[in-house]
Amino acid sequence: MTIPELLTRKREGRKITVVTAYDALFARILEEAGIEVLLVGDSLGMVVQGKPDTLSVTMGQMLYHTRLVARAARQALVIADMPFLSYQVRVEEAVRNAGRLLQAGAAAVKLEGGRTVLDRVRACTGAGIPVVAHLGMTPQSVRSYGGYRVQAKGPAEAEALLVDAQALESAGACALVLEAIPTALARRVTETLTLPTIGIGAGPFCDGQVLVLYDLLGLFDDFVPKFVKPYAHLKADALQALRRFREEVEQGKFPTDGESYH
Ligand code: KIV
Repeated sequence: MTIPELLTRKREGRKITVVTAYDALFARILEEAGIEVLLVGDSLGMVVQGKPDTLSVTMGQMLYHTRLVARAARQALVIADMPFLSYQVRVEEAVRNAGRLLQAGAAAVKLEGGRTVLDRVRACTGAGIPVVAHLGMTPQSVRSYGGYRVQAKGPAEAEALLVDAQALESAGACALVLEAIPTALARRVTETLTLPTIGIGAGPFCDGQVLVLYDLLGLFDDFVPKFVKPYAHLKADALQALRRFREEVEQGKFPTDGESYH
């Protein structure tokens, strides 16, 4: 998958499937399942590091996880999140940090925000760095929202989001993640823009859908938003396996002769 192919997919009306990935093992499994876009999300702060939000994720950590995923991914497009404070402070810093993520193996970077980040989007795309934008419930602004809440529910907010989306497209963004916004608004944005929209909690009319890997597999149950559909229950499976292992060790049933060397 390439950036131009993302646009072709939208033109042809073929949906795009995106899943987050944080390591080589799952990157391989995701590719084997035919997932064409892997997002090294800063959600790793929550699902891998156990933090309450994404705010403390660093560039060093994003580079590390991007390298792990990019090493394993053969055909999938790897997008890496720009962590909090890696692009907000200065345009030059944003370009340098985005470039480092590309050097680590990403094909594009993702950053959050609308008109306030247009100069960053322009500068990165001008430097040959594809940028995926992110609007709606942008997790790096969780403190301003006072929690993880659906955004752009009122007409004024919805209009502002549409203007942001159009401005991001004009600034050169190659795709747009829409998170936790009403379905009708996501549909309007999708129909208005040429670039593909990737929804998460934004209804079925986006050009693609993204989910956090551990949510999708039913591994992470600290906080399950309404938009998450667990397609497996791996936490329950893992618990069952681990309890059985502990019991068999305690009862002297493991290892048997079959698992021993002679
Ligand atoms: O960090 C992340 O995983 C994301 C997705 C939820 C879109 O930004």
